[in-house]
Amino acid sequence: MATTTETPAASPYDRIGGHAVLRRITDRFYDLMETEPAFAELRAMHASDLAPMRESLPLFLGGWSGGPRTWWDANPGKCMVSMHAPFRIDKAIAGQWADAMRRAIADVAPEDAAIAEALADVLDRMARGMAKA
Ligand code: HEM
Repeated sequence: MATTTETPAASPYDRIGGHAVLRRITDRFYDLMETEPAFAELRAMHASDLAPMRESLPLFLGGWSGGPRTWWDANPGKCMVSMHAPFRIDKAIAGQWADAMRRAIADVAPEDAAIAEALADVLDRMARGMAKA
């Protein structure tokens, strides 16, 4: 029987450009949140200092997309969904999160446009799925 040697498919993490690109997307996301009136309500929910989130979100997205599990190692037992439970996330706020993230990904324009679009779509669905009302 013939054997095939298939190269394992690159993870979404690798295809998007790894930590460096996720960090650029995150920085653009929080820059938009800090400057665009359309995201003011979302901004107001966050702590005044966004520096910890700028560090943390790319690590979360990295592990979630198949890269290093740094965020989980640093936050054992922490659940992203239950962590958001105390926040009043309605459809409008979830839409602001999804729109800001979609714009951030478009502005950074990762080289692999197909994975960039897939990332924007899945994060859009994830954010809108977190809306409680
Ligand atoms: C649906 C709309 C969302 C809202 C309104 C929201 C809001 C927040 C807020 C207020 C915090 C606390 C940060 C601070 O106080 O500065 C937070 C933390 C966090 N959010 Fe969201 N979030 C949303 C969606 C998401 C999604 C879709 C993801 C992941 C893909 C995500 C990932 C995180 C992570 C990883 C943290 C905490 C980081 C850490 O403690 O290490 N959030 N979020």
